[in-house]
Amino acid sequence: AIESGVAQKMITNWETYAIELDKRLGLDNQLMRVLGAKARRNPKRLVFAEADNIKILKSAQIAYDERIAYPILLGDEKAIRQMALDNSIDIDDMPIIDPRNDEYEEKRKQYGELFFKKRQRKGVNQYEATKMMKDRTYFGCMMVENGDADAVISGLTRNYADAIRPALQVIGMEEGVKKIAGMYMLLTKRGPLFLADTTVNLNPTAEELADITLLAAKEVRSFNLMPRIAMLSYSNFGSSDTPEARLVAQAKDIVKQKDPTIIIDGEMQPNIAFNQEILRDNYPFSELVDQEVNTLIFPNLAAGNIAYNLMKEIGGADAVGPILLGLKKPVHVLQLGSSVRSITNMALIAVIDAQLKCENSNQESAK
Ligand code: ACO
Repeated sequence: AIESGVAQKMITNWETYAIELDKRLGLDNQLMRVLGAKARRNPKRLVFAEADNIKILKSAQIAYDERIAYPILLGDEKAIRQMALDNSIDIDDMPIIDPRNDEYEEKRKQYGELFFKKRQRKGVNQYEATKMMKDRTYFGCMMVENGDADAVISGLTRNYADAIRPALQVIGMEEGVKKIAGMYMLLTKRGPLFLADTTVNLNPTAEELADITLLAAKEVRSFNLMPRIAMLSYSNFGSSDTPEARLVAQAKDIVKQKDPTIIIDGEMQPNIAFNQEILRDNYPFSELVDQEVNTLIFPNLAAGNIAYNLMKEIGGADAVGPILLGLKKPVHVLQLGSSVRSITNMALIAVIDAQLKCENSNQESAK
């Protein structure tokens, strides 16, 4: 159990982060405070799949101290304990599981059978399925799939694509979703901005881009914000009659058909999306006139990935993500080499995602 004494320490830490961020950005960035408070109301069991990494261990401690999660540490127990000792990290209340250990042979067998059922016609045999459960990313995803944990974060030490495959194979997609996508939340001078797809789909079709947009809009709403979406391109409302520009306009039309209430426009350049004067003077018909855009959808992965990295490095925005959209259960994959701050932010997002998915499944089962 988390003691009440620790609670005070956590609030102080979270406040420190929020204050530092506000000072740097010159505004009151309420969102992270609100999300912190939301996570604390119902902390979840969160698996840290690479707990023998010092940055992960420090994040687990912060998540615990700040009462946003009950961490479960995966990795070599001796190495984790030694690292905790060397760095004065208190992990007394955190379970440690080493999936390779004999102690977990039964669990590996149980998870292996489940995994085999999912992948038996995708080239995986029963022996391989059980053996794969020694891998912490697979084991962690399987813990969530089997209800032994509520969420997992992994991927700090491996290539991003390699870290999302286990999530796709073990957890799969939410009902109705055809492709998962990646989103970043950027805490900027003008408030939070949501960017997608920044990490998964290379060259989406118009239909896929529309689905990515709807997934992003749903996620933005889950943060209690109304999405106001600009579909980005190098063209403004038909100014370049090229296939790439038309694809974006078509995606906007598909989104509008699927959800007529959504506030969205494009194709358009980002400078137009953020400049009300130009928008009003030149494109008075646009749905985004008098709207503060907070969600940017990019025509392809190259544009999205480059944009968020530029905003982070040069624009001084704090990037929270990548947030995976469309998975059935909360699995979040870190970017290779993320900082302690980024990992802790992802832990927060994972807990909120778990709360939401839990509420949704309770509503489903009550029907
Ligand atoms: N959503 C859901 N499922 C998918 C998706 C998707 N977007 N893409 C592929 N799949 C599924 C396929 O249906 C297939 O399923 P199956 O095995 O059950 O039949 C499986 O994943 C493998 O499909 P492949 O076509 O072989 O895809 P691949 O294995 O090459 O990789 C991946 C899929 C990892 C998502 C790929 O799209 C990718 O590499 N994306 C780019 C990642 C990247 O480099 N990001 C930028 C840097 S990361 C950063 O900045 C944090």
